[in-house]
Parts: sequence; C-alpha cells; structure tokens
Amino acid sequence: MSEHDLWQGVLYVHLLAMAFFVGGQLVFGIAVVPVLRGDPDRERMRAIGRRFGYGSLIALGLLIVTGWALASHYDRFGSSTLQWKLALVGLVVTLTLLHLRWPKMHALQAAILLASLVIVWLGLELAG
Ligand code: HEM
Repeated sequence: MSEHDLWQGVLYVHLLAMAFFVGGQLVFGIAVVPVLRGDPDRERMRAIGRRFGYGSLIALGLLIVTGWALASHYDRFGSSTLQWKLALVGLVVTLTLLHLRWPKMHALQAAILLASLVIVWLGLELAG
C-alpha cells in the first residue's frame, strides 16, 4: 500500500463518518421523530434515540481523530478555514452536551444540524 492510499483511506473514513453524522441527523428528524412522536410505547423512541446517539458519538470521535491526522499530515492548522471549522466542531460538542442535559429543547437539535451543515461546507473549502 502506498502512502497516497493510506491518506486516501484516512479521508475515506473521515467522509464515511461525516455521512453518518449528518445523514443520521437528517433521517432522524425527517423520518423517525415525526413517525414515532405519537407512539404510546415511549420506550421505542428512547431505544432508537439511544442507538442513534451512540452511533453519532462514534462518528464524531472518528471525525475528530481522522480530521486531526489529515490536518497534521497536510500541515493545515494555520488555515483560518480549519480554525473556523474547529470552533464549530467545539460548538457542536457543547450543544450536544446541552442536548443530553435538556433533551426536549428542540432548538438545540436544529442548531446542531445547522452547525454540522456549515462544517461540511468548510470541509469542502479545505479540501479545495
Ligand atoms: C463534525 C465534524 C466534521 C465534519 C462534518 C467534517 C467534514 C469534512 C468534509 C465534508 C470534508 C471534505 C473532504 C473532501 O471533499 O475531500 C473534510 C475535509 C477535511 N477535514 Fe473535516 N470534518 C469534521 C471534523 C474535522 C476536524 C475535527 C478536523 C481537524 C482537526 C478536520 C480536518 C479536515 C481536513 C484537514 C480536511 C481536508 C483534507 C484534505 O485536504 O483532503 N475535520 N471534512
């Protein structure tokens, strides 16, 4: 395996985790919550939310580890685009912690989705 393949693999994992992290939020908001909102069996929604939450946490962890590796390898920490992206990743982590504390505050979910979409835009800017 060449060094090029290795870094392509790291970027591949970064993008797969991005797909899960952002796609999961969209599917959860568009399909799962509206359908299960009125379900009398509250445990079903809780169980799905828990699994979705763990999956998103793993995806976010992978994004940070692979993103850090890419930024070090390509020497990008001086880039203001990356610095904005990191600030927004910090915001997403903070909002997620607040969401765990106050799960019924829907504005938090909307803010997490919005910040995630901006992060994807900044990621595209970074990759050029
Ligand atoms: C929620 C978290 C994140 C999301 C959704 C995300 C998303 C993305 C996306 C969509 C790209 C574009 C890739 C391409 O077009 O080839 C990208 C690239 C990149 N990301 Fe992230 N990212 C996240 C976190 C991070 C973190 C924490 C770092 C650094 C510490 C980082 C560093 C990078 C770098 C350096 C690139 C450019 C790689 C290249 O030049 O090929 N990312 N990211």
